[in-house]
Amino acid sequence: MNQKLANEAEKSGLEPYIEELETNGLTILPPEITGVTSEFVDRSVNALLTKFTALTGCPISLQEGPLKALEWPGGGRAQFVAGEGAPDPTQALIQQLLQIDRCFRDLAVNPKVDFLIDHLMGAQTRGQGAARRLSSANSFIKWRGDFGYGPDLGLHPDQGANPLPWGDTALTANVTWALTDYTQRDGALAYVPGSHKRNSWPTPGAADEAIAAEAKRGSAIVFHGATWHGAFHKQTPGLRLCAVSYYRHISVLPQENLRVTMADQPWHDCDNPELMRELIGFDDSFPYSKQGFPLPRVAS
Ligand SMILES: [Fe+2]
Repeated sequence: MNQKLANEAEKSGLEPYIEELETNGLTILPPEITGVTSEFVDRSVNALLTKFTALTGCPISLQEGPLKALEWPGGGRAQFVAGEGAPDPTQALIQQLLQIDRCFRDLAVNPKVDFLIDHLMGAQTRGQGAARRLSSANSFIKWRGDFGYGPDLGLHPDQGANPLPWGDTALTANVTWALTDYTQRDGALAYVPGSHKRNSWPTPGAADEAIAAEAKRGSAIVFHGATWHGAFHKQTPGLRLCAVSYYRHISVLPQENLRVTMADQPWHDCDNPELMRELIGFDDSFPYSKQGFPLPRVAS
Protein backbone atom coordinates (compact mmCIF):
# COMPACT_ATOMS: atom_id res chain seq x y z
CA MET A 1 0.00 0.00 0.00
CA ASN A 2 1.50 3.39 -0.90
CA GLN A 3 1.62 6.18 1.69
CA LYS A 4 -1.17 8.29 0.16
CA LEU A 5 -3.52 5.32 0.09
CA ALA A 6 -2.51 4.27 3.61
CA ASN A 7 -3.36 7.76 4.91
CA GLU A 8 -6.74 7.79 3.18
CA ALA A 9 -7.50 4.24 4.31
CA GLU A 10 -6.64 5.07 7.89
CA LYS A 11 -8.91 8.11 7.78
CA SER A 12 -11.84 6.08 6.52
CA GLY A 13 -11.19 3.15 8.91
CA LEU A 14 -10.62 0.81 5.96
CA GLU A 15 -6.92 0.03 6.40
CA PRO A 16 -7.36 -3.48 7.90
CA TYR A 17 -9.90 -4.37 5.22
CA ILE A 18 -7.59 -3.27 2.42
CA GLU A 19 -4.79 -5.34 3.91
CA GLU A 20 -7.07 -8.37 4.11
CA LEU A 21 -8.20 -7.82 0.54
CA GLU A 22 -4.58 -7.76 -0.61
CA THR A 23 -3.63 -10.84 1.42
CA ASN A 24 -6.72 -13.03 1.06
CA GLY A 25 -8.41 -11.63 -2.04
CA LEU A 26 -11.60 -11.10 0.00
CA THR A 27 -12.70 -8.97 2.93
CA ILE A 28 -15.95 -8.46 4.79
CA LEU A 29 -17.10 -4.97 5.76
CA PRO A 30 -19.56 -5.29 8.66
CA PRO A 31 -22.67 -3.06 8.84
CA GLU A 32 -20.93 -0.77 11.36
CA ILE A 33 -18.54 0.10 8.53
CA THR A 34 -20.88 0.00 5.54
CA GLY A 35 -23.50 2.11 7.37
CA VAL A 36 -26.28 -0.16 6.11
CA THR A 37 -29.10 -0.25 8.68
CA SER A 38 -31.46 -3.06 9.59
CA GLU A 39 -34.37 -1.06 8.12
CA PHE A 40 -32.49 -0.71 4.85
CA VAL A 41 -31.89 -4.46 4.71
CA ASP A 42 -35.61 -5.10 5.43
CA ARG A 43 -36.56 -2.85 2.52
CA SER A 44 -34.11 -4.62 0.20
CA VAL A 45 -35.42 -8.03 1.24
CA ASN A 46 -39.04 -7.01 0.70
CA ALA A 47 -38.23 -5.63 -2.75
CA LEU A 48 -36.54 -8.89 -3.76
CA LEU A 49 -39.25 -11.19 -2.43
CA THR A 50 -41.95 -9.11 -4.13
CA LYS A 51 -40.01 -9.30 -7.41
CA PHE A 52 -39.48 -13.06 -7.04
CA THR A 53 -43.23 -13.59 -6.71
CA ALA A 54 -43.94 -11.27 -9.65
CA LEU A 55 -41.51 -13.19 -11.89
CA THR A 56 -42.33 -16.76 -10.81
CA GLY A 57 -45.92 -16.60 -9.54
CA CYS A 58 -44.71 -18.30 -6.37
CA PRO A 59 -45.22 -16.75 -2.93
CA ILE A 60 -42.07 -16.86 -0.82
CA SER A 61 -41.06 -16.08 2.76
CA LEU A 62 -37.75 -15.47 4.48
CA GLN A 63 -38.47 -18.14 7.09
CA GLU A 64 -39.86 -20.89 4.81
CA GLY A 65 -38.55 -20.20 1.31
CA PRO A 66 -40.74 -20.74 -1.77
CA LEU A 67 -44.24 -21.68 -0.59
CA LYS A 68 -45.21 -23.73 -3.67
CA ALA A 69 -43.48 -26.35 -5.83
CA LEU A 70 -41.32 -24.89 -8.61
CA GLU A 71 -40.35 -26.25 -11.99
CA TRP A 72 -37.54 -25.11 -14.31
CA PRO A 73 -37.61 -24.70 -18.06
CA GLY A 74 -35.39 -27.21 -19.87
CA GLY A 75 -31.79 -26.60 -20.81
CA GLY A 76 -28.48 -26.35 -19.05
CA ARG A 77 -28.66 -22.64 -18.24
CA ALA A 78 -30.86 -23.33 -15.25
CA GLN A 79 -28.07 -25.46 -13.76
CA PHE A 80 -25.81 -22.45 -13.11
CA VAL A 81 -22.30 -23.92 -12.81
CA ALA A 82 -23.29 -27.36 -11.43
CA GLY A 83 -23.23 -29.04 -14.83
CA GLU A 84 -25.01 -31.91 -16.58
CA GLY A 85 -26.93 -34.38 -14.44
CA ALA A 86 -27.22 -32.11 -11.42
CA PRO A 87 -30.63 -31.89 -9.73
CA ASP A 88 -32.82 -28.82 -10.22
CA PRO A 89 -31.22 -25.70 -8.70
CA THR A 90 -32.35 -24.55 -5.27
CA GLN A 91 -31.66 -20.93 -6.06
CA ALA A 92 -32.86 -18.36 -8.56
CA LEU A 93 -31.05 -15.36 -10.03
CA ILE A 94 -32.90 -12.06 -10.28
CA GLN A 95 -31.14 -9.67 -12.65
CA GLN A 96 -31.25 -5.92 -13.29
CA LEU A 97 -31.61 -4.93 -9.64
CA LEU A 98 -30.86 -1.27 -10.33
CA GLN A 99 -34.29 -0.99 -11.92
CA ILE A 100 -36.16 -2.61 -9.05
CA ASP A 101 -35.64 -0.26 -6.12
CA ARG A 102 -33.50 2.69 -5.07
CA CYS A 103 -31.95 0.61 -2.28
CA PHE A 104 -29.94 -1.36 -4.86
CA ARG A 105 -28.76 1.86 -6.51
CA ASP A 106 -27.64 3.13 -3.10
CA LEU A 107 -25.73 -0.09 -2.43
CA ALA A 108 -23.88 0.27 -5.75
CA VAL A 109 -22.56 3.72 -4.76
CA ASN A 110 -21.76 2.92 -1.11
CA PRO A 111 -18.69 5.10 -0.35
CA LYS A 112 -16.79 2.49 1.69
CA VAL A 113 -17.24 -0.13 -1.00
CA ASP A 114 -16.28 2.39 -3.69
CA PHE A 115 -13.01 3.08 -1.88
CA LEU A 116 -12.10 -0.62 -2.04
CA ILE A 117 -13.18 -1.08 -5.65
CA ASP A 118 -11.24 2.01 -6.69
CA HIS A 119 -8.23 0.54 -4.89
CA LEU A 120 -8.61 -2.80 -6.72
CA MET A 121 -8.94 -1.25 -10.20
CA GLY A 122 -6.96 1.98 -9.96
CA ALA A 123 -6.80 4.67 -12.60
CA GLN A 124 -7.14 4.37 -16.36
CA THR A 125 -3.77 3.93 -18.00
CA ARG A 126 -3.83 7.31 -19.77
CA GLY A 127 -4.85 9.24 -16.69
CA GLN A 128 -8.47 9.83 -17.66
CA GLY A 129 -9.88 9.11 -14.22
CA ALA A 130 -10.84 6.02 -12.26
CA ALA A 131 -11.06 2.70 -14.10
CA ARG A 132 -13.92 1.13 -12.14
CA ARG A 133 -17.36 0.72 -13.71
CA LEU A 134 -20.47 -1.28 -12.87
CA SER A 135 -20.97 -4.55 -14.73
CA SER A 136 -24.33 -5.67 -13.32
CA ALA A 137 -26.44 -5.90 -10.18
CA ASN A 138 -28.26 -9.11 -9.38
CA SER A 139 -29.48 -11.30 -6.56
CA PHE A 140 -29.22 -14.98 -5.71
CA ILE A 141 -32.32 -16.15 -3.88
CA LYS A 142 -31.29 -19.44 -2.34
CA TRP A 143 -33.24 -22.02 -0.37
CA ARG A 144 -32.56 -25.36 1.27
CA GLY A 145 -31.00 -28.02 -0.94
CA ASP A 146 -28.64 -30.97 -0.46
CA PHE A 147 -26.67 -30.48 -3.67
CA GLY A 148 -25.96 -26.79 -4.14
CA TYR A 149 -23.15 -26.52 -6.70
CA GLY A 150 -22.01 -30.07 -5.96
CA PRO A 151 -18.76 -31.31 -4.37
CA ASP A 152 -16.51 -28.72 -6.05
CA LEU A 153 -18.68 -25.90 -4.59
CA GLY A 154 -18.84 -24.30 -8.05
CA LEU A 155 -15.46 -22.65 -7.46
CA HIS A 156 -14.44 -20.19 -10.18
CA PRO A 157 -12.80 -16.79 -10.64
CA ASP A 158 -15.27 -14.12 -11.79
CA GLN A 159 -12.76 -12.64 -14.26
CA GLY A 160 -12.30 -16.05 -15.91
CA ALA A 161 -13.47 -14.82 -19.33
CA ASN A 162 -10.35 -12.67 -19.54
CA PRO A 163 -7.20 -14.26 -20.96
CA LEU A 164 -4.38 -15.35 -18.68
CA PRO A 165 -2.00 -14.22 -17.33
CA TRP A 166 -3.80 -11.67 -15.17
CA GLY A 167 -1.98 -8.87 -13.38
CA ASP A 168 -2.52 -7.44 -9.90
CA THR A 169 -5.18 -5.02 -11.15
CA ALA A 170 -8.63 -6.54 -10.69
CA LEU A 171 -10.46 -6.89 -14.01
CA THR A 172 -13.71 -7.46 -12.16
CA ALA A 173 -14.66 -7.22 -8.49
CA ASN A 174 -17.64 -8.64 -6.68
CA VAL A 175 -19.47 -7.03 -3.77
CA THR A 176 -21.94 -9.48 -2.32
CA TRP A 177 -24.24 -7.70 0.11
CA ALA A 178 -25.48 -10.22 2.69
CA LEU A 179 -29.19 -9.54 3.26
CA THR A 180 -29.50 -12.50 5.64
CA ASP A 181 -26.85 -13.75 8.09
CA TYR A 182 -24.26 -15.73 6.15
CA THR A 183 -23.04 -18.94 7.85
CA GLN A 184 -21.67 -22.11 6.28
CA ARG A 185 -24.83 -24.06 7.21
CA ASP A 186 -26.96 -21.30 5.71
CA GLY A 187 -25.18 -21.70 2.38
CA ALA A 188 -22.58 -18.94 2.61
CA LEU A 189 -20.20 -17.94 -0.14
CA ALA A 190 -17.16 -20.23 -0.19
CA TYR A 191 -13.68 -18.97 -1.12
CA VAL A 192 -10.04 -19.97 -1.10
CA PRO A 193 -7.96 -17.36 0.77
CA GLY A 194 -5.02 -16.07 -1.27
CA SER A 195 -6.21 -17.73 -4.50
CA HIS A 196 -6.26 -14.36 -6.34
CA LYS A 197 -2.47 -14.58 -6.43
CA ARG A 198 -2.38 -17.97 -8.15
CA ASN A 199 -3.27 -16.43 -11.49
CA SER A 200 -5.30 -19.43 -12.63
CA TRP A 201 -8.62 -21.25 -12.55
CA PRO A 202 -9.17 -23.55 -9.53
CA THR A 203 -6.92 -26.60 -9.52
CA PRO A 204 -8.12 -30.10 -8.50
CA GLY A 205 -8.82 -30.34 -4.77
CA ALA A 206 -9.38 -26.59 -4.41
CA ALA A 207 -12.68 -27.20 -2.59
CA ASP A 208 -10.72 -28.73 0.31
CA GLU A 209 -9.10 -25.34 0.86
CA ALA A 210 -12.37 -23.37 0.73
CA ILE A 211 -13.76 -21.64 3.78
CA ALA A 212 -17.08 -19.87 4.38
CA ALA A 213 -17.41 -16.09 4.16
CA GLU A 214 -19.52 -15.79 7.31
CA ALA A 215 -21.09 -12.37 7.67
CA LYS A 216 -23.88 -10.52 9.46
CA ARG A 217 -26.77 -9.18 7.39
CA GLY A 218 -25.90 -5.72 6.10
CA SER A 219 -22.25 -6.72 5.50
CA ALA A 220 -20.45 -6.28 2.19
CA ILE A 221 -18.33 -9.25 1.10
CA VAL A 222 -15.80 -7.69 -1.28
CA PHE A 223 -13.55 -9.82 -3.46
CA HIS A 224 -11.08 -9.60 -6.33
CA GLY A 225 -12.17 -11.03 -9.69
CA ALA A 226 -9.34 -13.59 -9.56
CA THR A 227 -10.41 -15.05 -6.18
CA TRP A 228 -11.69 -18.62 -6.39
CA HIS A 229 -15.19 -18.71 -4.92
CA GLY A 230 -18.45 -20.62 -5.01
CA ALA A 231 -20.95 -21.48 -2.30
CA PHE A 232 -21.88 -24.11 0.27
CA HIS A 233 -25.26 -25.78 -0.03
CA LYS A 234 -27.98 -24.52 2.28
CA GLN A 235 -28.74 -26.99 5.05
CA THR A 236 -31.26 -24.87 6.96
CA PRO A 237 -34.88 -23.82 6.25
CA GLY A 238 -35.72 -20.42 4.83
CA LEU A 239 -33.74 -18.21 2.50
CA ARG A 240 -30.19 -16.99 2.03
CA LEU A 241 -30.45 -13.64 0.30
CA CYS A 242 -27.91 -11.32 -1.26
CA ALA A 243 -27.65 -8.37 -3.58
CA VAL A 244 -24.53 -8.43 -5.74
CA SER A 245 -23.01 -5.22 -7.05
CA TYR A 246 -20.60 -6.48 -9.69
CA TYR A 247 -17.90 -4.13 -10.98
CA ARG A 248 -15.56 -4.23 -13.96
CA HIS A 249 -12.42 -2.51 -15.12
CA ILE A 250 -13.32 -0.08 -17.92
CA SER A 251 -11.49 -2.35 -20.42
CA VAL A 252 -13.81 -5.28 -19.66
CA LEU A 253 -17.20 -5.92 -21.29
CA PRO A 254 -20.14 -5.39 -18.87
CA GLN A 255 -22.60 -8.18 -18.09
CA GLU A 256 -25.54 -5.81 -18.49
CA ASN A 257 -25.51 -3.04 -21.08
CA LEU A 258 -26.28 -0.48 -18.39
CA ARG A 259 -25.72 2.55 -20.62
CA VAL A 260 -28.72 1.39 -22.65
CA THR A 261 -30.87 -0.31 -20.00
CA MET A 262 -30.51 2.49 -17.43
CA ALA A 263 -30.77 5.47 -19.80
CA ASP A 264 -34.50 5.91 -19.13
CA GLN A 265 -34.43 4.59 -15.57
CA PRO A 266 -34.07 6.73 -12.43
CA TRP A 267 -30.30 6.12 -12.11
CA HIS A 268 -29.85 9.59 -10.55
CA ASP A 269 -32.23 8.71 -7.71
CA CYS A 270 -29.53 7.47 -5.31
CA ASP A 271 -27.09 8.72 -2.69
CA ASN A 272 -24.44 9.72 -5.25
CA PRO A 273 -25.77 10.43 -8.77
CA GLU A 274 -22.38 11.64 -10.04
CA LEU A 275 -20.72 8.38 -9.06
CA MET A 276 -23.60 6.38 -10.54
CA ARG A 277 -23.19 8.27 -13.82
CA GLU A 278 -19.50 7.38 -13.85
CA LEU A 279 -20.09 3.75 -12.84
CA ILE A 280 -22.65 3.23 -15.60
CA GLY A 281 -20.22 4.90 -18.02
CA PHE A 282 -22.65 7.32 -19.66
CA ASP A 283 -19.76 9.62 -20.63
CA ASP A 284 -17.34 6.91 -21.80
CA SER A 285 -16.00 7.09 -25.36
CA PHE A 286 -16.57 3.39 -26.02
CA PRO A 287 -18.54 1.60 -27.24
CA TYR A 288 -19.96 4.31 -29.46
CA SER A 289 -23.19 4.07 -31.43
CA LYS A 290 -22.74 6.98 -33.87
CA GLN A 291 -20.02 9.02 -35.58
CA GLY A 292 -18.56 11.17 -32.83
CA PHE A 293 -15.41 12.61 -34.38
CA PRO A 294 -15.89 15.74 -36.50
CA LEU A 295 -15.14 15.35 -40.19
CA PRO A 296 -13.66 17.90 -42.57
CA ARG A 297 -15.85 19.26 -45.41
CA VAL A 298 -14.73 20.09 -48.86
CA ALA A 299 -13.61 23.72 -48.86
CA SER A 300 -16.04 26.15 -50.46
FE1 LIG B 1 -18.84 -15.76 -9.24
